[in-house]
Formats: sequence, structure tokens, C-alpha cells
Amino acid sequence: MTLKEEIARRRTFAIISHPDAGKTTLTEKLLLFGGAIHVAGAVKSNKIKKTATSDWMEIEKQRGISVATSVMGFDYGDYKVNILDTPGHQDFAEDTYRTLTAVDSVIIVVDVAKGVERQTRKLMEVCRMRNTPVIVFVNKLDREGRDPFDILDELESELHIKVRPLSWPINIGERFKGVYNIYEHSLDLFTPDKQRVSERVEIDSLDDPRIDEAVGEEDAAKLREDLELIDGVYPEFDKEEYLSGSVAPVFFGSALNTFGVKELLDCFVQIAPSPRPIEAEERKVNPDEEGFSGFVFKIHANMDPNHRSCIAFVKICSGTFLRNEPYRHIRSNKMLKFAAPTAFMAQKKNIVDEAYPGDIVGIPDTGNFKIGDTLTSGELLHYKGLPSFSPEMFKYIENADPMKAKQLDKGVQQLMDEGVAQLFTNQFNGRKIIGTVGQLQFEVIQYRLEHEYGAKCRWEPVSLYKACWIESDDPEALAAFKKRKHQFMATDRDGRDVFLADSPYVLQMAQNDFPKIRFHFSSEF
Ligand code: G4P
Repeated sequence: MTLKEEIARRRTFAIISHPDAGKTTLTEKLLLFGGAIHVAGAVKSNKIKKTATSDWMEIEKQRGISVATSVMGFDYGDYKVNILDTPGHQDFAEDTYRTLTAVDSVIIVVDVAKGVERQTRKLMEVCRMRNTPVIVFVNKLDREGRDPFDILDELESELHIKVRPLSWPINIGERFKGVYNIYEHSLDLFTPDKQRVSERVEIDSLDDPRIDEAVGEEDAAKLREDLELIDGVYPEFDKEEYLSGSVAPVFFGSALNTFGVKELLDCFVQIAPSPRPIEAEERKVNPDEEGFSGFVFKIHANMDPNHRSCIAFVKICSGTFLRNEPYRHIRSNKMLKFAAPTAFMAQKKNIVDEAYPGDIVGIPDTGNFKIGDTLTSGELLHYKGLPSFSPEMFKYIENADPMKAKQLDKGVQQLMDEGVAQLFTNQFNGRKIIGTVGQLQFEVIQYRLEHEYGAKCRWEPVSLYKACWIESDDPEALAAFKKRKHQFMATDRDGRDVFLADSPYVLQMAQNDFPKIRFHFSSEF
């Protein structure tokens, strides 16, 4: 197969949802269809158990296990599908944000009873920043839930994206009878059975009396009415609009009952994008270029003290990646060879000899890599830094063992390279502030500093609302702002200016008082 053909058949995506909407169940059913696993429950057992949510050690252990499911690749027909797993626990949301920079599209799972929830809204913001194409799967139709039209309205207003249903449910909950597949013009009847795939009724058109026979006259009439309304309200599905990230096709089904999942997958492989050109700082890079390039989007530390190595996950952006070939690590300007790169096919971690754009390879790492690093065949390229988002919790980190100041610095530095949290240095008092998305990270950092670096830290409270990256075209305005807010000015790890706002009110006032300053809530602007 040529490089172009390999690229064209790849579909690299992530499934995202608010916890409990059904992401794990859907992932597992997709893997079943892809023949990557043979029994339901295989992925589930890797999932972070809900009972353990306050016990972060347990979570880390389970996250360790889930390295195996970090990337799940399988062949489906002519396609090579790569599913990138995202941690369900919201304290690890930053991991998810970064994973989203390595995918070409996304499937969002929404619970029909709960609609759009907080975590979904946030993740969608990240997709919007990159115009990532999105498909929505409305799940749990076998349970009582909301009116599907309401759900569509909510998706549009909460996710700020136009929607286009490509399937439509016939009733819901106890009376759920199936879905009409608008994309393929067929009718799939629901049988509440976890093992059986839906039964398809062949129909010629919407007027076909076989619909009435299958679901009863009343529901058939309602279906026709609904579909007429849909055609009136929503423009025809346009693949280009989906690919540009402005329209999200919507499917309905029940992941647990394997209902509507195959239809979703069949449509997904047809319409979802294969790897596309990516902007590096220097130029746009096409996937079918001969030269290899890729970037590190995730580093997974091994919590097992006997095997301290990490795995760096590299997304291949162009060319063919070959085992044992020397590649240039741009940040250190060193040539590195990888003897044991791994890929994940059918749940097994295998050493790979070659990989193509859209694929993810895991590289055992002993501290060479930092999140965002670029690797190439030789060309000087920098893939644009992955965005950092303003953390939601902040604490001063203090050294609790004066003899171990060096170890502490080194440990903090490396944990930040791994992307565990963000470090800001207050320019006024020189104190270091760690920002995270959840309380768990503070515990993880403290534990790892002690066990991996022999350093002790202490947390001290600091009351902050947000960290905003600031910039201005007017150097005088910038200087004036920094002078006025000097107590609240910090730098991030790259030395960029960050304003630490201690309340929404203060931030609002700063924005009003300094119109020439631009405030950003993510580091990519
Ligand atoms: P998540 O990864 O998004 O957190 O969700 P997950 O797949 O774990 O699903 C959350 C719960 O919802 C699970 O139940 C799962 O069985 C259930 N579920 C998923 N899809 C459907 C569906 O289509 N219909 C119904 N009725 N339920 C669904 P649980 O009781 O929390 O876990 P378990 O004990 O069943 O494993």
C-alpha cells in the first residue's frame, strides 16, 4: 500500500463525554465490531472504578493499567481505526485536552436523560478551538429520557454548533422501538438484548407500509411527522460542513444494547476525516510528505517503583515512522533512535516496525521527552505548542526539607514536563504556584516528589480565580498594566506573562480598565 493509501484509510479519533454517559460502553462495542476484543467487559475492567474516586493511588494504578487502552487500533473493512482513550475522571481533564490535539475527529456521547453536561461543554470548547469535526451519539434510548427535539436544541445552544440528525428514534424508554436511519434510509428495530445486533427492516421509502407493520400505525405516523419536521428545520447533511467543524451529525441509540452502534461506526468511517495537514510554526505539513514528523502529546509515568520508565505517546503527522531509524529531537537537537516503539492493536501492545500518519506510537522514555516535543527526519519543525488552559485550583508549593531543595526543583520541573500540572512563578515575591484542574493532582505531585525524587513539599493556600496569559500590541500599555498589577504578575514555564486574577470581579475590572490588553484563558493564542 502506498503512503497516500495508508493515510486515506486511517480514522484517528477520541470519544468524549461527561462521566457516566456511556463512553466506556460505546468504546467497547466499537472494539467488538472491529474484532479487537471478543467479550463485552474487557475494556470496562480497565476503567477507573467509581468507588475509588477519592483514592488517587488506586486511580493511578488503574491509570497505569489503562496504558494498554490508551490507544486502541483495529481494522474495520478497509479502514484502520485508532481510538484514543481519554480519562473519565475530571481531575485528569488536562490529559483529555491534550489527547484532543492528537485526533482528527471526535465522537461525543450524551445521555438522553441528562442532556449536555458540564464536562461535555468544556471538552467541546477544546474541539471548537481546532475546528475538530464532531459526531454526537445520544445514548441510553432504552431508558426514559428527554424529547429528542429538546436534546437537539440543547446540543445547539450548549455546544455552540449546528446539528443534523442522521438517525431518529421511535419512542423512548419502555416504548423504544428502534431508529430510522436517515443517512441510509432504513429502519432498525430494537430488541433489548446486549448480545444481539439490531434487526433491519428493508424499506423503499417513508411511505412503505412495512414501517407501519413493524412499529404500529401510531408510531409510524409520528415518525413521518417528525422526519418532515426535521427536513423542514435542519438543512441537508453536508459533509464539508461537518469536516469544517460547523455541523455535528447526531445519532441515537443504546450502547449497552449494542443498538445504533454499528450504524454509527459505518457512517463514521465513511465521513470522518483521515489525517489532515497540520500547522507547524515554520509551515503547513502535509501527511503524505516523505519526511517523517510527529509530536509528543502525552507522557505516561509508570507508578510502579520497580519500573520507573515512562511512555511518551507520539502522534505521527507526516511520512513513515520506522523503528531504529535516527530521528531529530528538535528541542535537544539530538538524533534519537527507538528500538522498541509500540503500538496497540487489538488490545495487545506490539513492537512496531513502521507506522503512518494518524497512528500513535508509544516510546519508552527515561526523561528525554517533554509534552509538545517535535520529532522529524531532520527538518527543523515545531508543532505548535499544545495549549495549556487556565487551571482551576492553585496552591503555593513550598520546600518542606531544606536539604532537598535541588531534588524538589528537579522533581517539579520533570512533573511539569510530563504535564501533570502547571507552574507559575509570582514575579512579585518569587514564590512558586502550582495550578491544577483537580485536588487529586496535588496529592499525586506530593507523593511522586517524595517517592521518585526524595523531596518533600508543603502546600500553602493562595486564593486565585484564574491565570490569564496577557499580551498587547502596545508595549507601553503592557508595561503600565504589569506595573499596576505587579503583585499579581507571574510567568509560566516558558517565561510568558500571566496575570493571576483573584476573583471574577477583579478580572472584569482589569479587562475594562485596560482595553489594550488581551486576556487569554489558554496558552495558545
Ligand atoms: P462512562 O465511560 O461515560 O463513564 O460511562 P459507562 O460506559 O461506564 O456507562 C455508565 C453507566 O451507564 C454504566 O452503568 C453502563 O452500563 C450504563 N449504560 C451505558 N450505555 C447504556 C445504555 O445504552 N442504556 C442503559 N440503560 N445504560 C447504559 P453502571 O451501572 O454504572 O455500570 P455497570 O455496573 O453496568 O458496569
